[in-house]
Amino acid sequence: MDKFYITTPIYYVNDVPHIGHAYTTIACDVQARFHRLLGKAVFFLTGTDEHGQKVQKSALTRGLSPKAHADRLIENFKSLWTALNISNDAFIRTTDKEHAAVVQTMMQQLKDSGDIVRRQYEGWYCTHDEMFLAKDDLKDNQCPHCHRDVEHIKEDNYFFLMGKYQDRLIEHIESHPDFILPRTRRNEVLGFLKNAELGDLCISRPVQRLSWGIPLPFDQDYVTYVWFDALSNYYSATRYLSPMRYSVEWWPSEHHVIGKDILITHSIYWSTMLFALGWPLPHNIFAHGWWTVDGRKMSKSIGNVVDPLEMIQTYGVDPFRYFLLKEVPFGLDGNFSREALINRINSELANDFGNLANRVIAMVFKYFGGKVPEPVQEETAMKTLAEGILDRMQDALKTFAFHQALDAIWELVSHTNKYIDETAPWRLAKDPQHKERLQTVMYSVIEALRFLAMYLHPFMPESTQKLWEQLGQQSQLAEVNLIDKAKWGKLLPGTLVHKGKPLFPRIDK
Ligand code: MSP
Repeated sequence: MDKFYITTPIYYVNDVPHIGHAYTTIACDVQARFHRLLGKAVFFLTGTDEHGQKVQKSALTRGLSPKAHADRLIENFKSLWTALNISNDAFIRTTDKEHAAVVQTMMQQLKDSGDIVRRQYEGWYCTHDEMFLAKDDLKDNQCPHCHRDVEHIKEDNYFFLMGKYQDRLIEHIESHPDFILPRTRRNEVLGFLKNAELGDLCISRPVQRLSWGIPLPFDQDYVTYVWFDALSNYYSATRYLSPMRYSVEWWPSEHHVIGKDILITHSIYWSTMLFALGWPLPHNIFAHGWWTVDGRKMSKSIGNVVDPLEMIQTYGVDPFRYFLLKEVPFGLDGNFSREALINRINSELANDFGNLANRVIAMVFKYFGGKVPEPVQEETAMKTLAEGILDRMQDALKTFAFHQALDAIWELVSHTNKYIDETAPWRLAKDPQHKERLQTVMYSVIEALRFLAMYLHPFMPESTQKLWEQLGQQSQLAEVNLIDKAKWGKLLPGTLVHKGKPLFPRIDK
């Protein structure tokens, strides 16, 4: 069976989830749902990154152990994913004991092969950002990132000899054009690799400075945390959290979906770790852009952080999901504004699509007592358009072009609206001579709605399930197989349709 393994980054557990977290996770959800509809075995993974100084510190100020603190915080993420209708198959926590055991095995293997060595480190360190800094990095003797004072430290640490694999990584990126997408990001990574010498990566902290991490298997005085620990989740999850893990080898993943800010760690740290371990690399790392809000960077101090829960409560979960993937080509930066969201809801969802569904179902009641009529002819243009969208969606989603997939689907929305205006069923209904034509017209537009429900399901799971039921379908839309069902004429004449509430109410500005 064809498998499809997709991951989100694991989110820092003490962050408050915002639109950025929601964005990556929704994008992965659409891919996971679409590939399930294609009949693939899907493993969709998300989770939380729970080790490190920040978690240790904030737990301490609350008088909790770091683990107890994290146990509370993960609920922020889990409840958001439920509210956003995220269909992840597993939720990994870097504090899972099974994860820690896999990380330790990986480290031991790298120590044995000479890829991890102990060395003295002398230099500058920013406690807030948990980062080593070179003298040249400092700005007015402070951390260039958080502008706090830095410490001068001299200590032994363990280093992963990442630099050994630099040439091999360049060669891999050049020979696998889809390894890093979008192309512009791939070129940035290549440029970086060709112009700088990769240093060695410090992967440990002495326990006396930071205890909240995974103990090194070969030296109990040290822990590893954040990147070495975090990146390994993508592999460790396949050992204890994946569905059907005894019959499917999930590694390597098809996609790691991340934001552009963590591309270097994913494409360079993780790839070189995998080279050293002798394991295959993921097929693709996709780095999406960042959202600004009303043209400004999102920040707590400006107070413009977009809370996804509030968006769902105000505008509904499906419109929010739809908007994020339609508004901006995935990969580019974009700007979030309520006005743009409301405009799309009113014009595209309420008007183009929601009204179409409403009108069609009302007409089936009016002209055929709520029963799908038997068509007398096949509307070939509509059939060709409807069936052809599946391939177009597959092509678009291969490169995460969600907006293009939606554009293709919207051609069917527009075509059907236009077809109704042109065929004017209300006129046909007046003349018994046109009864057969009316049957064909009405069958075709209900059949078009069935295609729309299926194609839009990955994007808007809740509303399309409602539409599916209104179309008299008994099955769960999530369990439909698109390869079988995206064929014109599968809708059975005689099926009873149902009236329902409007799928997308208009929003007053
Ligand atoms: N824990 C690390 C990832 C480890 S993965 C092995 C981490 N966590 S995070 O919580 O900071 O991740 C946040 C994710 O949200 C990143 O992919 C980041 O790009 C994304 N975003 C954060 N702010 C964002 C926007 N304003 N817009 C879009 N995405 C943004 O990094």
